[in-house]
Amino acid sequence: MGIKYESVVPWGRSYPEYVDMFNLTPPDLNKPILSCGDGPASFNSSMNQKGKTVVSIDPVYRLSRTEIENRIAETSKIVMAQTKKNQDKFVWSGIGSVEELFKIRIESMKEFLSDYEAGKHAKRYITAELPFLPFKSDEFDLALSSHFLFLYTENLSLEFHLKSIDEMLRVSKEVRIFPLLDMNATTSTYVNPVIDGFSRKGYDVETVRVNYEFQKGGNLMLKIIK
Ligand SMILES: C[S@@+](CC[C@H](N)C(=O)[O-])C[C@H]1O[C@@H](n2cnc3c(N)ncnc32)[C@H](O)[C@@H]1O
Repeated sequence: MGIKYESVVPWGRSYPEYVDMFNLTPPDLNKPILSCGDGPASFNSSMNQKGKTVVSIDPVYRLSRTEIENRIAETSKIVMAQTKKNQDKFVWSGIGSVEELFKIRIESMKEFLSDYEAGKHAKRYITAELPFLPFKSDEFDLALSSHFLFLYTENLSLEFHLKSIDEMLRVSKEVRIFPLLDMNATTSTYVNPVIDGFSRKGYDVETVRVNYEFQKGGNLMLKIIK
């Protein structure tokens, strides 16, 4: 039995993790960034504190702070139980244990929650869901997907992936997706069709090795440039 979630779960990573997952350089961090499926990650909050611009979209932002807090509490038990049962699928050299992982994730999500209402007011957290984005063409330089596309291969179709990436490329000059693995640390069956499809459409498509690996073998990021 591997890892399977009935639906896409809200779970949040930190600013240093985003920098490593997406190879974000100082010039990248100064670009207008759209982060899709950002959920309760603290990347947006940390970037805002540094005076940088990130807009995050997620369907979970239709909920209030308390409702998201409750969903995180429900999700935490499920995610931690699944991670414990499947520890062999992860690299434990950076984060040493399931308990340490839990502590780090909860800290990130607490940072998100304390920034949520101010960020919603400032339109940094926008309720939207792929494959549709409520933005004008080319509004952003960089559009990111962390732990949403490819990861939920069992839950979301190839057609959904192709439409979502098309939409991200409509509103942004460049798309970066991490990881290329599904929930069970196997390369998503959608990676090759996505690479072929967007290469044929004339985009520059590149698989980049990054300085981040938590799922075993999960140190590759996909870059698609218009
Ligand atoms: C596992 S979380 C990843 C959160 C964050 N990006 C990170 O890496 O820490 C996946 C997120 O995808 C969001 N999601 C679900 N369906 C979506 C859709 N159609 N478009 C955008 N985001 C979606 C969920 O609400 C959830 O917050």
